[in-house]
Amino acid sequence: MLSLEHVSVTFHEGTPNEVRALQDLNLHVRAGDFITVIGANGAGKSTLFNVVAGVVPVDSGKIILNGRDVTNQPEYRRSLHIGRVFQNPILGTCPGLTIREHLSLAALRGKRLGLGSGVKHSNAAWFYELVKSVNLGLETRLDTDIALLSGGQRQAITLTMATMMKPKLLMLDEHTAALDPNAGAQVLELTVKLAEEYGLTVIMITHSMQQAIGVGNRLIMMNRGRVLFDVSGLERETMRYHDLIERFRSLQTGDELSDRTLMS
Ligand SMILES: Nc1ncnc2c1ncn2[C@@H]1O[C@H](COP(=O)(O)OP(=O)(O)OP(=O)(O)O)[C@@H](O)[C@H]1O
Ligand SMILES: [Mg+2]
Repeated sequence: MLSLEHVSVTFHEGTPNEVRALQDLNLHVRAGDFITVIGANGAGKSTLFNVVAGVVPVDSGKIILNGRDVTNQPEYRRSLHIGRVFQNPILGTCPGLTIREHLSLAALRGKRLGLGSGVKHSNAAWFYELVKSVNLGLETRLDTDIALLSGGQRQAITLTMATMMKPKLLMLDEHTAALDPNAGAQVLELTVKLAEEYGLTVIMITHSMQQAIGVGNRLIMMNRGRVLFDVSGLERETMRYHDLIERFRSLQTGDELSDRTLMS
């Protein structure tokens, strides 16, 4: 479904600030995978998403999405197939626009139409049902300015927007990290529900070990721009929090994998 073959990205090459963000990275994502990605700060997790989305060009290597080589395809073309949600709920939304207007914009993805045609009457029932299924009571507030919603409510709408056109791939970059535990749990639950309902392929970056082992079918650990650890199947299902911490320790390459990063 998605393959990264020998992908390398270096920022500020040849300067004292040189960072080898991705180093000969290989990853094969199967359709229907729900992958959790963990790794220390600076491991290259967000850069991985940026190269898949086409925001950051690769220095070398290939990206294949649904059988097509998209390595040199511009971001806007790939975005038709990719949904993304970031850590900050404000990033994915626009104050001054209502929930309905946000959904209308998301409904235009991949269509050559003006904004007016997105706010169609025929979408009203669909939007109502979409927001009702989020289970936060927001279906009666479709004409409320998004700026008036809490972070968790906004993130639930952002997630709805990212999934409603059923993208082939959903990439979540610590999308619950800025929320309180309760709102975070609700958004995570919604994530799992949408993934199942739409049969999405999901890659979810998280710093929560509990999330990393509690959600999805496959777990990847990144370190220094590489996939260090990739576990699925029975091994993944039977993995417990303490096993995971132990695996990290045994894989430590003697540098930046601090306990603080791992346990957070
Ligand atoms: N656009 C950029 N320009 C220069 N350096 C960058 C850029 N994007 C990322 N980097 C650097 O590349 C490395 C990997 O960054 P990345 O954001 O992928 O890490 P991460 O695993 O997502 O970390 P975190 O857990 O802190 O989000 C870091 O050293 C970062 O400073
Ligand atoms: Mg990141």
